[in-house]
Amino acid sequence: MSTIISCGSQKGGVGKSTTAYNLGACLALNHGKKVLLVDIDPQANLSDYLGFEPDGSPTMTQLVMSACMGTLKPEMLQDSLWYCETADVDFIPSDINLASAEPLMSTTISRETILRRILTKDFVSEYDFVIIDCLPSLGTLLINALTVSDRLLIPVQTQKFSMDGLQSLESLYQQIKSAVNPKLNLLGVLPTMTDRTRVSRASVETLTEKYGEMLFRTHISKSVEAARSSENRMPLCLTDSKLGREYEELAQEVLERC
Ligand SMILES: Nc1ncnc2c1ncn2[C@@H]1O[C@H](COP(=O)(O)OP(=O)(O)OP(=O)(O)O)[C@@H](O)[C@H]1O
Ligand SMILES: [Mg+2]
Repeated sequence: MSTIISCGSQKGGVGKSTTAYNLGACLALNHGKKVLLVDIDPQANLSDYLGFEPDGSPTMTQLVMSACMGTLKPEMLQDSLWYCETADVDFIPSDINLASAEPLMSTTISRETILRRILTKDFVSEYDFVIIDCLPSLGTLLINALTVSDRLLIPVQTQKFSMDGLQSLESLYQQIKSAVNPKLNLLGVLPTMTDRTRVSRASVETLTEKYGEMLFRTHISKSVEAARSSENRMPLCLTDSKLGREYEELAQEVLERC
Protein backbone atom coordinates (compact mmCIF):
# COMPACT_ATOMS: atom_id res chain seq x y z
CA MET A 1 0.00 0.00 0.00
CA SER A 2 1.38 3.36 -0.91
CA THR A 3 0.99 6.45 1.23
CA ILE A 4 0.78 9.86 -0.41
CA ILE A 5 2.03 12.65 1.83
CA SER A 6 1.67 16.36 1.09
CA CYS A 7 4.33 18.51 2.65
CA GLY A 8 2.44 21.78 2.81
CA SER A 9 1.99 25.18 4.38
CA GLN A 10 1.08 28.45 2.76
CA LYS A 11 3.87 30.14 4.63
CA GLY A 12 7.06 30.45 2.61
CA GLY A 13 10.51 29.30 3.65
CA VAL A 14 9.48 27.04 6.54
CA GLY A 15 11.38 23.96 5.35
CA LYS A 16 8.83 22.18 3.13
CA SER A 17 11.25 21.34 0.31
CA THR A 18 14.11 20.51 2.69
CA THR A 19 11.78 18.17 4.56
CA ALA A 20 10.29 16.54 1.45
CA TYR A 21 13.78 15.82 0.11
CA ASN A 22 15.38 14.63 3.33
CA LEU A 23 12.42 12.62 4.57
CA GLY A 24 12.21 10.94 1.17
CA ALA A 25 15.95 10.22 1.15
CA CYS A 26 15.85 8.74 4.69
CA LEU A 27 12.91 6.49 3.86
CA ALA A 28 14.69 5.26 0.74
CA LEU A 29 18.32 5.05 1.89
CA ASN A 30 17.87 3.97 5.52
CA HIS A 31 14.63 2.04 5.33
CA GLY A 32 14.68 0.55 1.84
CA LYS A 33 11.37 2.17 0.89
CA LYS A 34 10.50 2.92 -2.71
CA VAL A 35 9.91 6.66 -2.83
CA LEU A 36 8.55 9.09 -5.42
CA LEU A 37 9.02 12.82 -4.83
CA VAL A 38 6.64 15.11 -6.67
CA ASP A 39 7.40 18.79 -7.13
CA ILE A 40 4.31 20.96 -7.63
CA ASP A 41 6.02 24.25 -6.82
CA PRO A 42 6.82 26.50 -9.82
CA GLN A 43 9.91 27.65 -7.87
CA ALA A 44 11.16 24.07 -8.44
CA ASN A 45 13.49 24.10 -5.41
CA LEU A 46 13.00 20.39 -4.83
CA SER A 47 13.77 19.60 -8.48
CA ASP A 48 16.95 21.60 -8.19
CA TYR A 49 17.85 19.81 -4.95
CA LEU A 50 17.40 16.51 -6.82
CA GLY A 51 19.71 17.59 -9.62
CA PHE A 52 17.08 18.16 -12.31
CA GLU A 53 18.43 19.64 -15.54
CA PRO A 54 15.72 20.53 -18.10
CA ASP A 55 16.20 18.36 -21.21
CA GLY A 56 12.92 18.85 -23.04
CA SER A 57 11.16 15.94 -21.36
CA PRO A 58 7.77 16.72 -19.82
CA THR A 59 7.62 18.22 -16.34
CA MET A 60 4.69 18.71 -13.99
CA THR A 61 3.69 21.66 -16.19
CA GLN A 62 3.00 19.50 -19.26
CA LEU A 63 1.38 16.79 -17.14
CA VAL A 64 -1.01 19.31 -15.61
CA MET A 65 -1.81 20.95 -18.96
CA SER A 66 -2.51 17.56 -20.59
CA ALA A 67 -4.58 16.39 -17.65
CA CYS A 68 -6.63 19.61 -17.91
CA MET A 69 -7.24 19.02 -21.61
CA GLY A 70 -7.95 15.33 -21.18
CA THR A 71 -5.01 14.25 -23.35
CA LEU A 72 -2.67 12.80 -20.73
CA LYS A 73 -1.12 9.49 -21.82
CA PRO A 74 0.73 7.00 -19.59
CA GLU A 75 3.85 7.36 -21.78
CA MET A 76 4.04 11.05 -20.96
CA LEU A 77 3.98 10.24 -17.27
CA GLN A 78 6.78 7.70 -17.73
CA ASP A 79 8.80 10.28 -19.72
CA SER A 80 8.47 12.79 -16.89
CA LEU A 81 9.99 10.40 -14.33
CA TRP A 82 13.54 11.03 -13.16
CA TYR A 83 15.77 9.09 -10.82
CA CYS A 84 18.09 10.71 -8.27
CA GLU A 85 20.88 8.32 -7.46
CA THR A 86 22.24 10.08 -4.34
CA ALA A 87 18.86 10.02 -2.63
CA ASP A 88 17.72 6.78 -4.33
CA VAL A 89 14.32 8.27 -5.17
CA ASP A 90 12.27 8.73 -8.32
CA PHE A 91 10.89 12.19 -8.93
CA ILE A 92 8.66 14.27 -11.14
CA PRO A 93 10.20 17.73 -11.60
CA SER A 94 8.47 21.07 -11.83
CA ASP A 95 9.45 24.28 -13.57
CA ILE A 96 8.56 27.94 -13.56
CA ASN A 97 5.88 27.50 -16.28
CA LEU A 98 3.72 25.60 -13.82
CA ALA A 99 2.72 29.04 -12.50
CA SER A 100 1.02 29.81 -15.80
CA ALA A 101 -0.76 26.44 -15.82
CA GLU A 102 -2.54 27.24 -12.55
CA PRO A 103 -5.10 29.63 -14.11
CA LEU A 104 -5.95 26.92 -16.68
CA MET A 105 -6.45 24.48 -13.80
CA SER A 106 -8.91 26.77 -12.05
CA THR A 107 -11.18 26.87 -15.10
CA THR A 108 -11.08 23.10 -15.68
CA ILE A 109 -14.04 20.92 -14.75
CA SER A 110 -13.45 19.16 -11.43
CA ARG A 111 -10.40 21.34 -10.93
CA GLU A 112 -9.41 19.74 -7.63
CA THR A 113 -8.87 16.29 -9.18
CA ILE A 114 -6.30 17.19 -11.86
CA LEU A 115 -3.36 15.81 -9.89
CA ARG A 116 -5.42 12.73 -9.07
CA ARG A 117 -5.67 12.09 -12.83
CA ILE A 118 -1.85 12.22 -13.00
CA LEU A 119 -0.95 10.28 -9.85
CA THR A 120 -3.36 7.44 -10.58
CA LYS A 121 -3.77 4.51 -8.17
CA ASP A 122 -2.05 2.24 -10.69
CA PHE A 123 0.92 4.54 -11.04
CA VAL A 124 1.52 5.21 -7.35
CA SER A 125 0.99 1.56 -6.35
CA GLU A 126 4.64 0.97 -7.33
CA TYR A 127 5.79 3.16 -4.45
CA ASP A 128 5.72 2.84 -0.67
CA PHE A 129 5.72 6.61 -0.26
CA VAL A 130 4.87 9.49 -2.55
CA ILE A 131 5.84 12.87 -1.10
CA ILE A 132 4.44 16.02 -2.70
CA ASP A 133 6.38 19.23 -2.13
CA CYS A 134 3.78 21.99 -2.16
CA LEU A 135 4.13 25.66 -2.97
CA PRO A 136 3.58 28.37 -0.37
CA SER A 137 0.01 29.27 -1.32
CA LEU A 138 -3.53 28.07 -0.71
CA GLY A 139 -4.40 27.97 -4.42
CA THR A 140 -5.50 25.31 -6.87
CA LEU A 141 -2.21 23.40 -6.79
CA LEU A 142 -2.36 22.91 -3.02
CA ILE A 143 -6.04 21.95 -3.26
CA ASN A 144 -5.02 19.31 -5.82
CA ALA A 145 -2.25 18.01 -3.59
CA LEU A 146 -4.61 17.62 -0.64
CA THR A 147 -7.21 15.95 -2.84
CA VAL A 148 -4.80 13.21 -3.92
CA SER A 149 -3.07 12.75 -0.54
CA ASP A 150 -3.59 10.38 2.36
CA ARG A 151 -1.69 12.51 4.85
CA LEU A 152 -0.66 16.11 5.38
CA LEU A 153 2.65 17.01 7.01
CA ILE A 154 2.86 20.66 8.06
CA PRO A 155 6.33 22.09 8.75
CA VAL A 156 6.16 25.13 11.02
CA GLN A 157 9.12 27.41 11.45
CA THR A 158 9.36 28.09 15.18
CA GLN A 159 9.95 31.81 14.93
CA LYS A 160 7.88 34.92 15.33
CA PHE A 161 4.51 34.72 13.51
CA SER A 162 4.97 30.94 13.22
CA MET A 163 1.25 30.32 13.76
CA ASP A 164 0.24 32.79 11.04
CA GLY A 165 -1.87 31.21 8.37
CA LEU A 166 -2.16 27.81 10.09
CA GLN A 167 -5.84 28.52 10.65
CA SER A 168 -6.56 28.97 6.94
CA LEU A 169 -4.56 25.84 6.03
CA GLU A 170 -6.55 23.86 8.60
CA SER A 171 -9.79 25.22 7.26
CA LEU A 172 -8.82 24.23 3.70
CA TYR A 173 -7.79 20.78 4.97
CA GLN A 174 -11.20 20.34 6.65
CA GLN A 175 -13.11 21.46 3.55
CA ILE A 176 -11.21 19.05 1.30
CA LYS A 177 -11.56 16.21 3.78
CA SER A 178 -15.31 16.67 4.06
CA ALA A 179 -16.06 17.50 0.43
CA VAL A 180 -13.71 15.48 -1.78
CA ASN A 181 -11.16 13.37 0.07
CA PRO A 182 -12.41 11.73 3.30
CA LYS A 183 -9.25 9.59 3.56
CA LEU A 184 -7.09 12.67 4.13
CA ASN A 185 -5.61 12.84 7.63
CA LEU A 186 -3.05 14.95 9.39
CA LEU A 187 0.30 13.15 9.55
CA GLY A 188 1.75 15.68 11.94
CA VAL A 189 3.02 19.16 12.57
CA LEU A 190 6.80 19.46 12.40
CA PRO A 191 8.61 22.24 14.28
CA THR A 192 11.49 23.39 12.08
CA MET A 193 14.47 25.70 12.53
CA THR A 194 14.25 25.43 16.30
CA ASP A 195 16.97 27.06 18.37
CA ARG A 196 17.60 28.10 21.96
CA THR A 197 15.95 31.49 21.67
CA ARG A 198 12.97 32.41 23.80
CA VAL A 199 10.75 32.92 20.76
CA SER A 200 11.55 29.46 19.38
CA ARG A 201 10.85 27.76 22.72
CA ALA A 202 7.62 29.74 23.11
CA SER A 203 6.36 28.71 19.70
CA VAL A 204 7.13 25.03 20.38
CA GLU A 205 5.07 25.40 23.59
CA THR A 206 2.17 26.96 21.71
CA LEU A 207 2.32 24.22 19.07
CA THR A 208 2.37 21.52 21.78
CA GLU A 209 -0.71 23.05 23.44
CA LYS A 210 -2.53 23.28 20.16
CA TYR A 211 -1.58 19.98 18.51
CA GLY A 212 -0.70 17.64 21.40
CA GLU A 213 0.20 14.23 19.99
CA MET A 214 -0.07 15.49 16.44
CA LEU A 215 3.12 17.45 16.99
CA PHE A 216 6.07 15.29 15.96
CA ARG A 217 8.40 14.40 18.83
CA THR A 218 11.19 15.21 16.42
CA HIS A 219 12.09 18.86 16.06
CA ILE A 220 14.34 20.02 13.24
CA SER A 221 17.05 22.38 14.49
CA LYS A 222 18.20 25.51 12.78
CA SER A 223 21.52 24.75 11.14
CA VAL A 224 23.63 25.81 8.18
CA GLU A 225 23.78 22.10 7.30
CA ALA A 226 20.40 22.54 5.59
CA ALA A 227 21.67 25.07 3.06
CA ARG A 228 24.89 23.11 2.62
CA SER A 229 22.93 19.96 1.86
CA SER A 230 20.87 21.64 -0.86
CA GLU A 231 23.94 23.32 -2.32
CA ASN A 232 25.83 20.01 -2.46
CA ARG A 233 22.70 18.08 -3.42
CA MET A 234 23.50 15.64 -0.66
CA PRO A 235 20.82 14.18 1.62
CA LEU A 236 21.43 15.11 5.26
CA CYS A 237 21.22 11.46 6.32
CA LEU A 238 24.39 10.80 4.34
CA THR A 239 26.28 13.45 6.29
CA ASP A 240 27.36 13.04 9.88
CA SER A 241 25.22 15.89 11.15
CA LYS A 242 22.66 16.72 13.79
CA LEU A 243 20.08 17.52 11.11
CA GLY A 244 20.77 14.16 9.46
CA ARG A 245 19.97 12.40 12.74
CA GLU A 246 16.86 14.51 13.23
CA TYR A 247 15.52 13.72 9.76
CA GLU A 248 16.18 10.03 10.43
CA GLU A 249 14.14 10.32 13.67
CA LEU A 250 11.40 11.99 11.66
CA ALA A 251 11.45 9.13 9.14
CA GLN A 252 11.03 6.63 12.00
CA GLU A 253 8.09 8.60 13.38
CA VAL A 254 6.50 8.79 9.95
CA LEU A 255 6.85 5.00 9.59
CA GLU A 256 5.20 4.55 13.02
CA ARG A 257 2.34 6.84 12.09
CA CYS A 258 1.66 5.43 8.62
N1 LIG B 1 16.62 23.32 9.61
C1 LIG B 1 17.04 24.38 8.92
N2 LIG B 1 17.94 25.23 9.45
C2 LIG B 1 18.38 26.31 8.78
N3 LIG B 1 17.99 26.62 7.54
C3 LIG B 1 17.09 25.81 6.94
C4 LIG B 1 16.57 24.65 7.59
N4 LIG B 1 15.69 24.04 6.75
C5 LIG B 1 15.69 24.78 5.63
N5 LIG B 1 16.51 25.83 5.74
C6 LIG B 1 16.80 26.87 4.72
O1 LIG B 1 15.69 27.76 4.70
C7 LIG B 1 15.37 28.10 3.36
C8 LIG B 1 13.95 27.66 3.07
O2 LIG B 1 13.87 26.24 3.16
P1 LIG B 1 12.93 25.42 2.18
O3 LIG B 1 13.22 25.79 0.77
O4 LIG B 1 13.02 24.00 2.56
O5 LIG B 1 11.53 26.03 2.62
P2 LIG B 1 10.15 25.96 1.84
O6 LIG B 1 9.09 25.97 2.88
O7 LIG B 1 10.15 24.84 0.88
O8 LIG B 1 10.16 27.34 1.06
P3 LIG B 1 9.10 27.80 -0.06
O9 LIG B 1 7.85 28.15 0.70
O10 LIG B 1 9.73 28.97 -0.72
O11 LIG B 1 8.88 26.64 -0.97
C9 LIG B 1 16.40 27.41 2.48
O12 LIG B 1 17.42 28.32 2.22
C10 LIG B 1 16.90 26.26 3.34
O13 LIG B 1 18.24 25.90 3.05
MG1 LIG C 1 9.77 24.83 -1.17
